[in-house]
Amino acid sequence: MEKLVITGGNKLKGEVTVSGAKNAVVAIIPAALLVEGVCRIENVPDINDVTVIVDMLKQLGSAVNYINNNTIEIDCSVVNSYTAPYEMVKKMRASYYLLGALLGRFNKAEVAFPGGCDFGVRPIDQHIKGFEALGVKVEMEHGVIHACTDKIAAAQIYMDVVSVGATINVMLAAVKADGITIIENAAKEPHIVDVANFLNAMGANIRGAGTDVIKVKGVDKLTGGTYSIIPDQIEAGTFMIAAAASGGDVVVKNVIPKHLESITAKLIEMNVNVDEYDDAVRVWRTDKLLKANVKTLPYPGFPTDLQPPVAVLLAMAEGTSIVTEGVWDSRFQYIDELKRMGANIKVEGRVAVIEGVAKLSGAPVKATDLRAGAAMVIAGIVADGITEVHDLKHIDRGYENFEAKLLSLGADIKRIKI
Ligand code: EPZ
Repeated sequence: MEKLVITGGNKLKGEVTVSGAKNAVVAIIPAALLVEGVCRIENVPDINDVTVIVDMLKQLGSAVNYINNNTIEIDCSVVNSYTAPYEMVKKMRASYYLLGALLGRFNKAEVAFPGGCDFGVRPIDQHIKGFEALGVKVEMEHGVIHACTDKIAAAQIYMDVVSVGATINVMLAAVKADGITIIENAAKEPHIVDVANFLNAMGANIRGAGTDVIKVKGVDKLTGGTYSIIPDQIEAGTFMIAAAASGGDVVVKNVIPKHLESITAKLIEMNVNVDEYDDAVRVWRTDKLLKANVKTLPYPGFPTDLQPPVAVLLAMAEGTSIVTEGVWDSRFQYIDELKRMGANIKVEGRVAVIEGVAKLSGAPVKATDLRAGAAMVIAGIVADGITEVHDLKHIDRGYENFEAKLLSLGADIKRIKI
């Protein structure tokens, strides 16, 4: 077991380069199951979620070759299994992408109900609704989802809920269907576009990704090719917030500024300076933080995955801020940890009322999930004294070289075995 030990008070300064997007790559690697040929995927973040999903593909029979830490080649031509048992999928939520990918490949999938971060109820009814509309029979037995059909039939599907996972899963299942599948009320996140671009680069015909209507015209087959993953919007936002929280001056490189607009706008509202360049943003702060209200929403709204980091910022802003979680039922488990560092926050259902305090004070805390873990690290960087962050497995799932990047920006942070 390991913990991070952070001595707070250093202002973050310098440049940091953002890695490839976790939530794109965890869908694109399973999507390789649909490809008859070698896919070379570049800008793959070196994170545990990638190790886990690569392992799942290997267990299904794929050949996966690491060219270097951030480039992999996947060949799924000899895969002949459509079964992913609980032992294989329990470590990550995104294993539900095996359902869409295996269905698209074999018209059949048997995948155990996935694990992942706990934000309350995490249904997959929209995934199932989408598959059923494509003519797939879906049954759940002993914790395993059994999905099968003779032929995936193109369909028009209206999603009742804007869901990243369901939108991608239906794209995966429909990519080789006969005819044109139309997904309405689709999610618009940057990683949806990235998955569609990957599939198109392999020979698919998907239009409209990034809008709320996606059209998937079925093709006979996907052949191999090379694809580079987009920069991680949430990692970029995490460093932007860390820079602002510490009163530092950081250039966050390898980003798509358009993907960061909701974050940039909120930081500016809070009295933080942000300059945009072609593929970088500079974030710096010299004045006090001002309160703001934040409501998380599907893209292009403020991302739910940055709700914990932004709460740290608001915990130190003058006045009362209100954070409303608009995506998940329960994503405030980390607030109790933040309170132990002196934050003054009350949670009522999906709303947190944050009274800014003059300073946070270092304490032992735990990462209750991935983004909550990042929030604890940011809190440690700005707090008085020493903060220990425990349960690093969550952080390691999704941030590449997190403490090395922070160290290079001047944070006093080290990883210690316990
Ligand atoms: C993705 O989860 C991300 N995970 C999450 O990132 C992120 O928080 C979330 O999208 C929202 O942006 C991956 O991409 C691997 P959803 P996903 O389906 O796809 C409800 C992180 O920290 N819903 O868009 O599982 C659901 O309950 C994480 O990187 C249904 O009701 O999220 C939620 O309220 C964790 N029925 C909302 O929709 C369904 O069938 C959005 O969920 C599916 C979802």
